[in-house]
Amino acid sequence: MRKICIINQKGGVGKTTTVVNLAHGLATAGKKVLVIDLDPQGNVSTCLNTRSERDIYDILVGSDNASLCTKQVNDNLDVISSKETLTKAEVLLAGEQSRETVLKRKLSTITGYDFVLLDCAPSLGLLNQNAMLYADEIFIPTSTDALGVVGLTTMIKAIDKLNEVFNHQAKITQVIPTLYDTRSKLCKNTLQELKNNFDGVLADPIHTSSKLKEAPKFGKSIFEYDKKGRGAKDYHALVDRVLGVQANAPLQTPAPVQTAPLEMPAG
Ligand SMILES: Nc1ncnc2c1ncn2[C@@H]1O[C@H](COP(=O)(O)OP(=O)(O)OP(=O)(O)O)[C@@H](O)[C@H]1O
Ligand SMILES: [Mg+2]
Repeated sequence: MRKICIINQKGGVGKTTTVVNLAHGLATAGKKVLVIDLDPQGNVSTCLNTRSERDIYDILVGSDNASLCTKQVNDNLDVISSKETLTKAEVLLAGEQSRETVLKRKLSTITGYDFVLLDCAPSLGLLNQNAMLYADEIFIPTSTDALGVVGLTTMIKAIDKLNEVFNHQAKITQVIPTLYDTRSKLCKNTLQELKNNFDGVLADPIHTSSKLKEAPKFGKSIFEYDKKGRGAKDYHALVDRVLGVQANAPLQTPAPVQTAPLEMPAG
């Protein structure tokens, strides 16, 4: 069972879009997938058009077994959803013993999936520390705009520190460039910068696509909403890459990004 945390402290970079479409694509490829929404915004439920009475809050704060809070989306895809009450959970967790590993203990009963994907809120707070300490792999969607790479060094340092303090071995196995516009010189420069720093773990870019933006409104993945378009092609490539990586040796956490200033194109 591959336990993957999809995280970036920066907001709006395509974390949820990636989780939802990757999950759907892996499920379509015949893999058993569980998505866990760890963001109080609860966007996963909207994107997959599903909602459950009991959710991740009841697992974290209550004594619910994870299976009680799992909702089936299709034959291969299950979801544990979240809502704004999860904000309270973060406060309550702060008072718990071994507060960084509560999620790991509470989710230890989960079995039978090929993939567990965690959608994280844009933060490096306690909930996300819990997410990283549950996961074996970390995927970082990164926008290819001017501020895309800013903050990546902080993220990598935080992951290294958590691994060290908790004797954990989570590895960054995918850095996923998002919101890529082929006409933009800035996007090209940022992608090059990512290539220079993340060789080996850098996925092909996910292009900016209006269909990817629209799909959540209809509670559909891109494979259902626009299966022949650019967005579906890009996420299909990511699904293949994630399935392929399984056969390879685990990748090392890449070195922190060199913080040279971005070269801004004139005009
Ligand atoms: N490749 C894309 N092309 C066009 N729009 C996109 C793309 N990826 C994501 N979006 C849109 O950008 C917005 C932010 O995406 P998303 O919610 O996936 O980001 P996020 O990182 O999960 O945000 P948050 O940090 O708030 O959780 C959404 O409106 C989404 O539909
Ligand atoms: Mg999100």
